[in-house]
Amino acid sequence: MTNADFEKIVDTSDEWIVTRTGISERHIAGDDISSADMAIKASERALESAGLTHEDIDLVICGTVTPDYKLPSNACVVQEKLGFPNAVAFDVVSACTGFINGLSIANSLIATGQNRRALVIGTEKLSSFTNYEDRNTCVLFGDAAGAAVVEACDDGRGVLSSFMKSDGSLRPLLWSKVGGSRYPYPRDFAFDGSDKILMNGSDIFKVAVRAMSKAAKEVISIAGLTIDDIALIVPHQANIRIIDAVAKRLGVGRDRMFINIEKYGNTSSASVPLALDEASRSGRIKDGDHVVMVAFGGGLIWGATLVKW
Ligand code: ACO
Repeated sequence: MTNADFEKIVDTSDEWIVTRTGISERHIAGDDISSADMAIKASERALESAGLTHEDIDLVICGTVTPDYKLPSNACVVQEKLGFPNAVAFDVVSACTGFINGLSIANSLIATGQNRRALVIGTEKLSSFTNYEDRNTCVLFGDAAGAAVVEACDDGRGVLSSFMKSDGSLRPLLWSKVGGSRYPYPRDFAFDGSDKILMNGSDIFKVAVRAMSKAAKEVISIAGLTIDDIALIVPHQANIRIIDAVAKRLGVGRDRMFINIEKYGNTSSASVPLALDEASRSGRIKDGDHVVMVAFGGGLIWGATLVKW
């Protein structure tokens, strides 16, 4: 869906969207495609590129706020469809930080020896959750999935440090009101957007810049490194101006921030794995590089992971 498509449904313009957000287009999944369907595709490709089969995986973690069902988890739907006979599967509800938190949990479980090999997924069908009558939000979001296989290695590479934090008092900045146990759908529910994404964009903007910069600095410091040691930062793709502001606070140029927001918009928990995959396939990440992934999302919740590739 391009910015020109939005000009036809809400009062907006390509110029406004590009200058305010950096987004030119986003992918919208068809009616017959769910977030678990996209997760399954991404998982199959991750397994293929790792040269592994379903039997090798003993942990499936799916970051999502747009699961197929309220019950069970999307991770269990992926397990049902792909069949991981040796695995436990569960979701992580951390909005755009879903993949980062999933990676952190997988890393800890593998480090303690409880699990051996994890599939960490970020998948969102945000179009199922977006109010296409609200120009403040609808132009921002897209659908996508990404996945990574995680296992232990003993050559000093892998996850060097992780950081997770949230502030539940900031819930009203980004939430969805109707449809849960506090405000179940009334029998006569009339569409008013209250079951879709509700957002205070400018306040989130400020928190996001502060939180992402701090989280990135935190993982760099825990790992005993400095910003000069970091080859690439893979940030959550919410807004190009947020990414630029984070880069400024970290003291790096755009050349060290991976950016693909123009093609996908904000895909929540899919955003970081999608960017990571493009960065690695396009040669932006080389063996031995230190890479920081950093995200924030509804909760509000934020976090970062530093890996040696
Ligand atoms: N087209 C044209 N005008 C628009 C549009 C649009 N699509 N959207 C908003 N406007 C208008 C507003 O109505 C407002 O008009 P007004 O001054 O007459 O009231 C004006 O533009 C300026 O609005 P601001 O909110 O000040 O614009 P801002 O520069 O802050 O940009 C934006 C808005 C893009 C939402 C920005 O604040 C942002 O990106 N914030 C972060 C949001 C975000 O990342 N949310 C997702 C979190 S992650 C997750 O968990 C899914």
